[in-house]
Amino acid sequence: MLKAKVGRDSFGSKFGIIAAVAGSAVGLGNIWKFPYIAGQNGGGAFLLIYLLCVLVIGIPVMMSEFTIGRRGQKNAYGAFKSIAPGTRWYLAGIMGIVAAFFIMGFYSAVAGWTLEYIYQAVTHQFAGRSPEEISEGFNAFIQNPIRPAVWQLIFIIITSIIVIAGVRRGIEKYTKILMPVLLVIILVLCVRSLTLPGGMEGIRFLFKPDFSSITGTSILYALGQAFFSLSLGMGTLITYGSYFSKKENLGVTALEVSFADTIIAILAGVAIFPAVFAFGIEPGAGPGLVFITLPGIFQQMPAGDFFAAIFFILLGVAALTSTISILEVIVAFFAEELRISRRNATILAAGSVSVLGVLASLSFSSLSDFTIFGKTIFGLLDYSSTNILLPLGGLCIVLFIGWYVKHLLLYRELSNSGSIRVWYYRSFIFLVRFVAPFGISAILIYSIFYGGLG
Ligand code: PHE
Repeated sequence: MLKAKVGRDSFGSKFGIIAAVAGSAVGLGNIWKFPYIAGQNGGGAFLLIYLLCVLVIGIPVMMSEFTIGRRGQKNAYGAFKSIAPGTRWYLAGIMGIVAAFFIMGFYSAVAGWTLEYIYQAVTHQFAGRSPEEISEGFNAFIQNPIRPAVWQLIFIIITSIIVIAGVRRGIEKYTKILMPVLLVIILVLCVRSLTLPGGMEGIRFLFKPDFSSITGTSILYALGQAFFSLSLGMGTLITYGSYFSKKENLGVTALEVSFADTIIAILAGVAIFPAVFAFGIEPGAGPGLVFITLPGIFQQMPAGDFFAAIFFILLGVAALTSTISILEVIVAFFAEELRISRRNATILAAGSVSVLGVLASLSFSSLSDFTIFGKTIFGLLDYSSTNILLPLGGLCIVLFIGWYVKHLLLYRELSNSGSIRVWYYRSFIFLVRFVAPFGISAILIYSIFYGGLG
């Protein structure tokens, strides 16, 4: 043969893999969503249900995705085709690609807001404004049809520049720098928040279970949040898994990343709730919690602009390492299935995502009256992906690994052809075969009949 086959791009180091996967997992889900969802669903009680979902459903799904990706050596759709040729399992991959579009649509909108807020903090625009004025400022900003969309497009462009550069030279290189930055910032903010007088009340709220506010819907939200926060159910980790080396220990990596993601969500709660309580604000303030409540709180602290700026940088960095992974799902699919270059695949993916994204942004202005099932485009993209597509995708993934894939193949992949011990194998099989499918189905069925849209 004259031309050697060009190998697939891959991650170059163990730390690179952890940074990239944790970068995908840690995002707006941890810092923007988790605190307000926990706040609305009983604080500590929600945290317990969430931990249970991560342990018995999230981690098994993550291991399954890594297995499919590394074994299939392809994008989320192609990996199913290569492991199960001639079957329809690839539909799970297609659903994942659709979910990637949906999530990117609303996620990039919120990611864009972080840029506006970094800008406002750095230019001292919050200074001297009352909480009411800050709240009005947020509403005026998102109700503007142009400005949020422009920030959103800038965010999509930054994401694309990194993705175009490739797995090792783009994704790995940048996440290895950004993740340590993120960790330092969140720790600084935790210290600041914990040392506020009256902050302990917030810690109590976060850790003390109040089971009276738990309903079936909160359990659905806990599961949806676990999928969203761990980047599960749409092939992100199938795609990333396909770039792992054959030496990577899939089980241990899944445990490490899930642990890191959960710790960061809890730290975000620790950074936010004490501040919220110290200033006597309602914890269940909804999506506005970090964009309205927090800037108001920062203004009442010494060096408030500084803390506001680093908080929104934290949020922006967390969002960026996640949008990279969401875009990569679509880019890997386009590049491999349409056989086009990474560059063209990224342009195509970013272009189509931008159209959907701008529609999501306009949900707060020109399109605010346009609703489907009682939700705006933004709300519908969020609800349907988080609470339906991701759990459904996760269900297909555990059924595929638990019931379709041959045990020998599975064992080989998890043990790197017998070179490492798979001490968790039996529990893993039990979880993927029975616990996860049953748990996800029960929650999904409940949500169709009771949770519902609207
Ligand atoms: N896990 C990311 C977060 O918590 C969001 C995400 C979802 C990323 C699905 C990739 C896939 O913000």
